[in-house]
Amino acid sequence: MSVPAAIRWERGGLWLLDQRKLPEEVVYEEQTSASMVAASIAGMKVRGAPAIGIAAAYGMALASRTGEDMARAARLLVAARPTAVNLAWAVNRVLRANDAVAEAEAIHREDAEMCRAIGEHGMELIEPETAVLTHCNAGALAVSSLGTATAPLYLAHEAGIRFRVFVDETRPLLQGARLTAWELVQSGIDVTLICDSMVSHLMSEGTIQSVIVGADRVTANGDVVNKIGTLGIAIASRYHGIPFHVALPSSTFDPDTKTGTDVEIEQRDASEVTGSIRAPRGVHVSNPAFDVTPAELVTSWITDRGLIENARDLAVLK
Ligand code: MRU
Repeated sequence: MSVPAAIRWERGGLWLLDQRKLPEEVVYEEQTSASMVAASIAGMKVRGAPAIGIAAAYGMALASRTGEDMARAARLLVAARPTAVNLAWAVNRVLRANDAVAEAEAIHREDAEMCRAIGEHGMELIEPETAVLTHCNAGALAVSSLGTATAPLYLAHEAGIRFRVFVDETRPLLQGARLTAWELVQSGIDVTLICDSMVSHLMSEGTIQSVIVGADRVTANGDVVNKIGTLGIAIASRYHGIPFHVALPSSTFDPDTKTGTDVEIEQRDASEVTGSIRAPRGVHVSNPAFDVTPAELVTSWITDRGLIENARDLAVLK
């Protein structure tokens, strides 16, 4: 696969791929301070749970280089987005380390290793001549290297297994259409783009055989906090008897939060919803960016430590 890296740390400098401009333009922007990184995370230049963790870790590394107040840098970065647990996890890890740069590099390297392990464990779920649905972008752009939900797809494709992938657009920011479809087309995987509203219909006519999504946080009881729309797909999967898998690295597991309903769901700006459609002036808009899928709807959690089918066994990720 040849997707440009979302995050580049080169000669002590941090460069973020501006994902708002994809797929039309591949533009990197140099980040010069922790506060600039925090603004890039809040503004969705870099996005996806593991990727914002890695970017924030490098934000802390920049802060240590330039002599910024580390505690203040940490507060700014953690406050950039509330839902994905990777952000606070990575920042706190760097804060506790003796060498901020080395710790950020280790977080980045380990993330790539976890993606490969997720792919190796998850590729057995990709049956030949079937179609897999994925939602939002849990690919290389949201993570590193092979991505999480996409890692089994990339490795199965490399192994010569023939299968199709359906990607839904993922309104309002269209991460599925702009990012996941872009990644998969470049890798040569057979990919079909659909509107979010088409999922149940395609399941009902037998077009989709399995689902793999990523996660922004998985709580102690196995609930999955992920991009808005995930819950509807999980419910439709259960109704149609289709396995619903969730790919996550250990860094996305939050054993300190009991259930998904304890997690703050980010509300984003109304303009994300109204911006690209012909909405009437004055209409009220609600824009929750994530939802909570109860653990009981999950067939398996595909982790770097193996396939987990019982939420109790997620404790191995601690
Ligand atoms: O709001 P975003 O684009 O940062 O959304 C996060 C995600 O990329 C998805 O929820 C994804 O499925 C999980 S992150 C690998």
